[in-house]
Amino acid sequence: MMEVLKSDTNMKEIDKKSLLKAKQLFESRDIEKIEVGTVVGLQDIHRYIFDDLYEFAGKIREQNISKGNFRFANAMYLKEILVKIEQMPQCSFEEILQKYVEMNIAHPFLEGNGRSMRIWLDMMFKTSLKKVVNWQYVDKTKYLQAMERSPVNDLELSVLIQDNLTDKVDEKETIFKGIEQSYFYET
Ligand SMILES: Nc1ncnc2c1ncn2[C@@H]1O[C@H](COP(=O)(O)OP(=O)(O)O)[C@@H](O)[C@H]1O
Ligand SMILES: [Mg+2]
Repeated sequence: MMEVLKSDTNMKEIDKKSLLKAKQLFESRDIEKIEVGTVVGLQDIHRYIFDDLYEFAGKIREQNISKGNFRFANAMYLKEILVKIEQMPQCSFEEILQKYVEMNIAHPFLEGNGRSMRIWLDMMFKTSLKKVVNWQYVDKTKYLQAMERSPVNDLELSVLIQDNLTDKVDEKETIFKGIEQSYFYET
């Protein structure tokens, strides 16, 4: 309950609306119709949670973007890069983590990459390992530091995620608190 209030008070209207959409994606079971581990699958998630909120919902960016000192993939080569990432295997924990790290480096959307990609990541874990990330227990600062570090070395991220996997893949409370935490990372 505190978690909900904490994120709620700091959240912009647009993010609150998107949070509801993200919950609806699971509650409606529309998530089951989305392709696992593909670019189209990620675009579908992004469109679903940001439709009517961003005009670029579901659209691959055509501008270059950066965060901190890190420049994400050059827009000129982004589509080719995405084809390569899609072809990466997604069977083991390590394979899925590497695919996620590469997709983060690509950062295909102007905004909303983190939130859409964490759902995309969980779909791969759920399908291949019958597990999901228990995001409610993944500390915001540790996670963002590990993500910042991941293009150079993914060990920190790997340990953080591995330590927080759960087999409660269909438990509503786990999923919903996880989504709230994922949105809290971005406030
Ligand atoms: N310096 C960085 N280097 C690499 N990845 C980063 C960096 N900072 C943040 N990230 C990743 O980018 C995500 C934020 O991307 P963004 O497009 O703003 O998504 P959202 O709008 O959902 O927050 C973070 O959740 C994190 O995974
Ligand atoms: Mg953002």
